[in-house]
Amino acid sequence: MSLPKAELHLHIEGTLEPELAFELAARNGVTLPYADTDALREAYRFEDLQSFLNLYYELMAVLRTERDFADLADAYLTRAAAQGVRHVEMFFDPQAHTARGVALGIVVEGLWRALEKSVETHGISTRLIMCFLRDESAASAMETLRAARPYLDRITGIGLDSAEVGHPPVKFREVYEAAARLGLRRVAHAGEEGPPEYITEALDVLGVERVDHGLRCMEDPALVERLVRERIPLTLCPLSNVRLRTVDTLADHPLPAMLDAGLLCTVNSDDPAYFGGYAGDNFDAVHRTLGLSEERLRELARNSFTASFLEDDEERRAR
Ligand code: ADE
Ligand code: ZN
Repeated sequence: MSLPKAELHLHIEGTLEPELAFELAARNGVTLPYADTDALREAYRFEDLQSFLNLYYELMAVLRTERDFADLADAYLTRAAAQGVRHVEMFFDPQAHTARGVALGIVVEGLWRALEKSVETHGISTRLIMCFLRDESAASAMETLRAARPYLDRITGIGLDSAEVGHPPVKFREVYEAAARLGLRRVAHAGEEGPPEYITEALDVLGVERVDHGLRCMEDPALVERLVRERIPLTLCPLSNVRLRTVDTLADHPLPAMLDAGLLCTVNSDDPAYFGGYAGDNFDAVHRTLGLSEERLRELARNSFTASFLEDDEERRAR
Protein backbone atom coordinates (compact mmCIF):
# COMPACT_ATOMS: atom_id res chain seq x y z
CA MET A 1 0.00 0.00 0.00
CA SER A 2 1.80 3.10 -1.22
CA LEU A 3 -0.62 5.69 0.24
CA PRO A 4 1.59 8.48 1.68
CA LYS A 5 1.82 7.90 5.42
CA ALA A 6 3.82 8.61 8.56
CA GLU A 7 5.17 5.77 10.67
CA LEU A 8 4.92 6.66 14.37
CA HIS A 9 5.63 3.34 16.05
CA LEU A 10 8.82 1.77 14.74
CA HIS A 11 11.66 0.31 16.79
CA ILE A 12 14.74 0.60 14.59
CA GLU A 13 16.26 -2.46 16.26
CA GLY A 14 13.11 -4.33 15.22
CA THR A 15 13.94 -3.74 11.55
CA LEU A 16 17.00 -6.02 11.70
CA GLU A 17 16.29 -8.56 8.97
CA PRO A 18 18.00 -11.99 9.26
CA GLU A 19 20.20 -11.33 6.19
CA LEU A 20 21.56 -8.10 7.67
CA ALA A 21 21.95 -9.76 11.09
CA PHE A 22 24.26 -12.40 9.55
CA GLU A 23 26.13 -9.79 7.49
CA LEU A 24 26.80 -7.65 10.59
CA ALA A 25 27.70 -10.76 12.64
CA ALA A 26 30.36 -11.66 10.05
CA ARG A 27 31.64 -8.09 9.88
CA ASN A 28 31.98 -7.88 13.67
CA GLY A 29 33.16 -11.43 14.41
CA VAL A 30 30.00 -12.24 16.38
CA THR A 31 28.73 -15.83 16.36
CA LEU A 32 24.95 -16.16 16.27
CA PRO A 33 23.42 -19.33 17.74
CA TYR A 34 21.55 -20.03 14.47
CA ALA A 35 22.94 -22.00 11.51
CA ASP A 36 21.56 -19.63 8.85
CA THR A 37 18.79 -17.16 8.05
CA ASP A 38 16.21 -19.95 7.67
CA ALA A 39 17.04 -21.32 11.12
CA LEU A 40 16.77 -17.82 12.54
CA ARG A 41 13.40 -17.23 10.88
CA GLU A 42 12.22 -20.50 12.43
CA ALA A 43 12.73 -18.87 15.84
CA TYR A 44 10.14 -16.19 15.00
CA ARG A 45 7.27 -18.01 16.70
CA PHE A 46 6.32 -15.97 19.70
CA GLU A 47 4.09 -16.84 22.64
CA ASP A 48 3.86 -13.31 23.98
CA LEU A 49 5.78 -10.04 24.25
CA GLN A 50 8.54 -11.48 26.47
CA SER A 51 9.35 -14.37 24.15
CA PHE A 52 9.81 -11.86 21.33
CA LEU A 53 11.89 -9.50 23.48
CA ASN A 54 14.29 -12.33 24.34
CA LEU A 55 15.20 -12.79 20.65
CA TYR A 56 15.08 -9.05 19.91
CA TYR A 57 17.70 -8.31 22.59
CA GLU A 58 19.79 -11.36 21.68
CA LEU A 59 20.17 -10.31 18.04
CA MET A 60 21.29 -6.80 18.99
CA ALA A 61 24.71 -8.35 19.73
CA VAL A 62 25.57 -7.82 16.05
CA LEU A 63 25.14 -4.02 16.28
CA ARG A 64 28.48 -2.59 17.37
CA THR A 65 29.68 0.37 15.31
CA GLU A 66 28.29 3.64 13.95
CA ARG A 67 28.36 2.07 10.50
CA ASP A 68 26.17 -0.83 11.73
CA PHE A 69 23.51 1.57 13.03
CA ALA A 70 23.71 3.68 9.86
CA ASP A 71 23.31 0.56 7.67
CA LEU A 72 20.37 -0.63 9.79
CA ALA A 73 18.56 2.71 9.49
CA ASP A 74 19.34 3.01 5.79
CA ALA A 75 17.95 -0.47 5.09
CA TYR A 76 14.75 0.44 6.97
CA LEU A 77 14.36 3.75 5.13
CA THR A 78 14.75 2.00 1.77
CA ARG A 79 11.97 -0.47 2.59
CA ALA A 80 9.74 2.17 4.16
CA ALA A 81 10.02 4.50 1.15
CA ALA A 82 8.88 1.68 -1.13
CA GLN A 83 5.71 1.39 1.00
CA GLY A 84 4.76 5.07 0.91
CA VAL A 85 6.28 6.17 4.24
CA ARG A 86 7.07 9.91 4.02
CA HIS A 87 7.88 10.55 7.66
CA VAL A 88 9.10 8.33 10.49
CA GLU A 89 9.33 8.91 14.23
CA MET A 90 11.88 6.25 15.05
CA PHE A 91 12.28 4.60 18.46
CA PHE A 92 15.61 3.34 19.68
CA ASP A 93 16.55 1.54 22.91
CA PRO A 94 19.78 3.10 24.28
CA GLN A 95 19.99 0.90 27.38
CA ALA A 96 19.93 -2.26 25.24
CA HIS A 97 23.20 -1.04 23.71
CA THR A 98 24.96 0.68 26.60
CA ALA A 99 24.41 -2.48 28.70
CA ARG A 100 26.52 -4.34 26.09
CA GLY A 101 29.28 -1.76 26.14
CA VAL A 102 28.16 0.17 23.04
CA ALA A 103 28.22 3.87 23.91
CA LEU A 104 25.15 6.05 23.41
CA GLY A 105 27.18 8.30 21.07
CA ILE A 106 27.83 5.38 18.70
CA VAL A 107 24.12 4.63 18.50
CA VAL A 108 22.94 8.22 18.00
CA GLU A 109 25.72 9.26 15.60
CA GLY A 110 25.30 6.05 13.62
CA LEU A 111 21.55 6.47 13.22
CA TRP A 112 22.08 10.16 12.46
CA ARG A 113 24.35 9.35 9.50
CA ALA A 114 21.33 7.80 7.79
CA LEU A 115 18.67 10.16 9.14
CA GLU A 116 20.36 13.47 8.37
CA LYS A 117 20.24 12.82 4.63
CA SER A 118 17.04 10.75 4.48
CA VAL A 119 14.93 13.53 2.94
CA GLU A 120 17.31 13.59 -0.05
CA THR A 121 18.10 9.87 -0.17
CA HIS A 122 14.65 8.43 0.57
CA GLY A 123 12.14 11.30 0.58
CA ILE A 124 11.48 10.60 4.28
CA SER A 125 11.64 13.17 7.09
CA THR A 126 12.53 11.81 10.51
CA ARG A 127 12.42 12.30 14.26
CA LEU A 128 14.27 10.22 16.88
CA ILE A 129 12.55 9.05 20.06
CA MET A 130 14.69 7.55 22.80
CA CYS A 131 12.87 4.81 24.72
CA PHE A 132 13.54 3.69 28.27
CA LEU A 133 13.30 -0.01 29.10
CA ARG A 134 10.51 -0.19 31.69
CA ASP A 135 11.82 -3.49 33.12
CA GLU A 136 15.01 -1.65 34.09
CA SER A 137 15.10 0.73 37.05
CA ALA A 138 13.95 4.34 37.06
CA ALA A 139 17.50 5.26 38.13
CA SER A 140 18.88 3.64 34.97
CA ALA A 141 16.38 5.59 32.86
CA MET A 142 17.39 8.82 34.60
CA GLU A 143 21.07 8.06 33.98
CA THR A 144 20.27 7.42 30.30
CA LEU A 145 18.49 10.78 30.07
CA ARG A 146 21.55 12.44 31.62
CA ALA A 147 23.89 10.66 29.18
CA ALA A 148 21.73 11.84 26.27
CA ARG A 149 22.24 15.54 27.10
CA PRO A 150 24.96 16.05 24.43
CA TYR A 151 22.63 14.61 21.76
CA LEU A 152 19.39 16.42 22.53
CA ASP A 153 19.58 18.42 19.30
CA ARG A 154 19.01 15.07 17.56
CA ILE A 155 16.41 13.60 19.90
CA THR A 156 12.82 14.86 19.74
CA GLY A 157 11.24 12.84 22.48
CA ILE A 158 11.20 9.98 24.92
CA GLY A 159 9.21 6.76 25.04
CA LEU A 160 8.77 3.74 27.29
CA ASP A 161 8.92 0.15 26.04
CA SER A 162 9.92 -3.47 26.83
CA ALA A 163 8.06 -5.82 29.23
CA GLU A 164 4.92 -3.96 30.29
CA VAL A 165 3.08 -5.99 32.93
CA GLY A 166 4.37 -5.24 36.44
CA HIS A 167 6.09 -2.03 35.28
CA PRO A 168 3.44 0.70 35.49
CA PRO A 169 4.08 4.15 34.05
CA VAL A 170 4.20 5.73 37.53
CA LYS A 171 7.62 4.10 38.03
CA PHE A 172 9.01 6.68 35.59
CA ARG A 173 7.26 9.82 36.91
CA GLU A 174 10.47 11.71 37.77
CA VAL A 175 12.20 10.77 34.50
CA TYR A 176 9.27 12.08 32.47
CA GLU A 177 9.16 15.26 34.56
CA ALA A 178 12.87 15.80 33.91
CA ALA A 179 12.40 15.14 30.18
CA ALA A 180 9.52 17.64 30.05
CA ARG A 181 11.79 20.28 31.62
CA LEU A 182 14.28 19.59 28.81
CA GLY A 183 11.55 20.28 26.24
CA LEU A 184 11.30 16.67 25.06
CA ARG A 185 8.06 15.28 23.62
CA ARG A 186 6.60 12.35 25.55
CA VAL A 187 5.03 9.07 24.44
CA ALA A 188 4.80 5.64 26.12
CA HIS A 189 3.74 2.10 25.32
CA ALA A 190 0.62 1.37 27.36
CA GLY A 191 -2.24 -1.09 27.08
CA GLU A 192 -0.40 -3.54 24.81
CA GLU A 193 -0.30 -6.40 27.34
CA GLY A 194 -0.86 -4.15 30.36
CA PRO A 195 -4.28 -3.07 31.69
CA PRO A 196 -6.26 0.05 30.71
CA GLU A 197 -5.16 1.68 33.99
CA TYR A 198 -1.64 1.93 32.57
CA ILE A 199 -3.03 4.08 29.72
CA THR A 200 -4.70 6.44 32.19
CA GLU A 201 -1.50 6.60 34.23
CA ALA A 202 0.62 7.33 31.15
CA LEU A 203 -1.65 10.29 30.40
CA ASP A 204 -2.06 11.62 33.94
CA VAL A 205 1.33 10.86 35.48
CA LEU A 206 3.72 10.90 32.53
CA GLY A 207 1.89 13.54 30.49
CA VAL A 208 2.17 11.61 27.23
CA GLU A 209 0.83 13.20 24.05
CA ARG A 210 0.36 9.91 22.26
CA VAL A 211 -0.15 6.33 23.44
CA ASP A 212 1.77 3.49 21.78
CA HIS A 213 -0.60 0.54 21.20
CA GLY A 214 -3.33 1.51 23.67
CA LEU A 215 -5.28 -1.50 22.42
CA ARG A 216 -6.71 -2.45 25.81
CA CYS A 217 -8.50 0.90 26.19
CA MET A 218 -11.42 -0.96 24.60
CA GLU A 219 -12.01 -2.69 27.97
CA ASP A 220 -12.90 0.66 29.57
CA PRO A 221 -15.66 2.68 27.87
CA ALA A 222 -15.00 5.76 30.03
CA LEU A 223 -11.35 5.71 28.94
CA VAL A 224 -12.36 5.39 25.28
CA GLU A 225 -14.63 8.41 25.73
CA ARG A 226 -11.76 10.38 27.23
CA LEU A 227 -9.29 9.42 24.47
CA VAL A 228 -11.86 10.50 21.86
CA ARG A 229 -12.66 13.76 23.66
CA GLU A 230 -9.01 14.69 24.15
CA ARG A 231 -8.01 13.53 20.64
CA ILE A 232 -5.18 11.37 22.02
CA PRO A 233 -3.58 9.45 19.14
CA LEU A 234 -3.03 5.69 19.44
CA THR A 235 -0.22 4.07 17.46
CA LEU A 236 -1.65 0.63 16.69
CA CYS A 237 0.40 -2.21 15.23
CA PRO A 238 -1.97 -4.90 13.91
CA LEU A 239 0.54 -7.48 12.63
CA SER A 240 2.52 -7.14 15.87
CA ASN A 241 -0.62 -7.82 17.90
CA VAL A 242 -1.22 -11.04 15.98
CA ARG A 243 2.40 -12.27 16.27
CA LEU A 244 2.57 -11.46 19.99
CA ARG A 245 -0.88 -12.99 20.53
CA THR A 246 -2.46 -9.85 21.90
CA VAL A 247 -5.30 -10.70 19.53
CA ASP A 248 -6.17 -14.24 18.40
CA THR A 249 -6.26 -13.48 14.69
CA LEU A 250 -6.15 -10.35 12.57
CA ALA A 251 -9.86 -10.81 11.88
CA ASP A 252 -10.45 -10.28 15.62
CA HIS A 253 -8.52 -7.01 15.75
CA PRO A 254 -10.58 -4.18 17.28
CA LEU A 255 -9.33 -1.54 14.80
CA PRO A 256 -12.71 -1.18 13.01
CA ALA A 257 -14.51 -0.79 16.36
CA MET A 258 -11.89 1.69 17.50
CA LEU A 259 -12.38 3.81 14.38
CA ASP A 260 -16.16 3.58 14.76
CA ALA A 261 -15.77 4.79 18.35
CA GLY A 262 -14.04 7.91 17.02
CA LEU A 263 -10.54 7.13 18.30
CA LEU A 264 -7.61 8.80 16.55
CA CYS A 265 -5.99 5.56 15.35
CA THR A 266 -2.82 5.15 13.32
CA VAL A 267 -1.43 1.94 11.79
CA ASN A 268 2.26 1.14 12.21
CA SER A 269 4.70 -1.75 12.01
CA ASP A 270 6.41 -1.91 15.47
CA ASP A 271 9.18 -4.46 14.68
CA PRO A 272 8.61 -5.24 11.01
CA ALA A 273 11.50 -7.70 10.55
CA TYR A 274 9.96 -9.92 13.24
CA PHE A 275 6.24 -9.48 12.66
CA GLY A 276 5.88 -10.06 8.94
CA GLY A 277 5.49 -6.62 7.49
CA TYR A 278 6.34 -2.96 7.15
CA ALA A 279 3.88 -0.04 7.32
CA GLY A 280 2.32 -0.64 3.92
CA ASP A 281 1.97 -4.36 4.66
CA ASN A 282 0.03 -3.47 7.81
CA PHE A 283 -2.27 -1.21 5.76
CA ASP A 284 -2.75 -4.01 3.19
CA ALA A 285 -3.51 -6.54 5.91
CA VAL A 286 -6.21 -4.45 7.60
CA HIS A 287 -7.69 -3.62 4.19
CA ARG A 288 -7.82 -7.27 3.15
CA THR A 289 -8.70 -8.98 6.42
CA LEU A 290 -10.74 -6.37 8.27
CA GLY A 291 -12.42 -5.06 5.14
CA LEU A 292 -11.56 -1.44 5.87
CA SER A 293 -12.74 0.79 3.03
CA GLU A 294 -10.45 2.98 0.94
CA GLU A 295 -11.89 5.98 2.82
CA ARG A 296 -10.96 4.40 6.17
CA LEU A 297 -7.43 3.78 4.88
CA ARG A 298 -7.15 7.40 3.80
CA GLU A 299 -8.38 8.43 7.27
CA LEU A 300 -5.64 6.28 8.86
CA ALA A 301 -3.02 7.86 6.61
CA ARG A 302 -4.31 11.38 7.43
CA ASN A 303 -4.30 10.53 11.14
CA SER A 304 -0.65 9.49 10.92
CA PHE A 305 0.36 13.03 9.91
CA THR A 306 -2.04 14.69 12.36
CA ALA A 307 -0.61 12.60 15.21
CA SER A 308 3.01 13.24 14.21
CA PHE A 309 5.40 15.75 15.76
CA LEU A 310 5.84 17.50 12.40
CA GLU A 311 5.35 21.26 12.31
CA ASP A 312 2.39 22.40 10.16
CA ASP A 313 4.47 23.40 7.13
CA GLU A 314 6.52 20.19 7.23
CA GLU A 315 3.30 18.20 7.62
CA ARG A 316 1.81 19.72 4.49
CA ARG A 317 4.96 18.91 2.53
CA ALA A 318 5.04 15.28 3.70
CA ARG A 319 1.36 14.45 3.07
N1 ADE B 1 10.23 -3.21 22.14
C1 ADE B 1 10.22 -3.51 20.83
N2 ADE B 1 8.98 -3.83 20.44
C2 ADE B 1 8.17 -3.70 21.53
C3 ADE B 1 6.80 -3.88 21.77
N3 ADE B 1 5.94 -4.26 20.81
N4 ADE B 1 6.33 -3.68 23.01
C4 ADE B 1 7.17 -3.33 23.99
N5 ADE B 1 8.47 -3.14 23.81
C5 ADE B 1 8.97 -3.33 22.59
ZN1 ZN C 1 6.51 -1.01 20.20
